[in-house]
Amino acid sequence: MATTEPSKTYLKTLLQYYEEEIEGAAYFDTLAERLNEPDQRKKMVLMADVERYASAAVEPLLEKYDLKPQAKEQLFKSGNNQATASSLNWTAILEGMIKTFPGYIEMFKDLEAMAPAEDRPMLEVLTAHEVAALEFLHLESQLDPSSTLPMMHYLKTGTAETPGDAKEQT
Ligand SMILES: [Fe+2]
Repeated sequence: MATTEPSKTYLKTLLQYYEEEIEGAAYFDTLAERLNEPDQRKKMVLMADVERYASAAVEPLLEKYDLKPQAKEQLFKSGNNQATASSLNWTAILEGMIKTFPGYIEMFKDLEAMAPAEDRPMLEVLTAHEVAALEFLHLESQLDPSSTLPMMHYLKTGTAETPGDAKEQT
């Protein structure tokens, strides 16, 4: 069976999403620096780590297709600027992301659907980062003391599990 030829849309979207993860990591790092609560800062650094894990997971695909992302400095700058403009109200930060993240999960799933089969395992790691982050956000907004477990689990395995599963395996 012939390998599926990747579409231009697939390649363009893959590159765009990769760049957005690099920006996202810078965004969360800068947001962490701006927050006063050590606990909130730690959680935003974890979000940045999750972004870094996700972008690293798809990096081999950029090499495979010889896709050239914008310079990291440029992407960092853009992420930093977004964080500088962001609210520092914890509830508002969480609520904002709880609203937007489900849409991102759908977008990542769409990317998986247009990918050649052999690329999908790496793209699943990308999708999982958003699932894990969204689980964190839901738990955190419910003041669950184990809210970071989904992200810790993701950083160990590259997969998203329900918080209950993550707890059992920790
Ligand atoms: Fe992300």
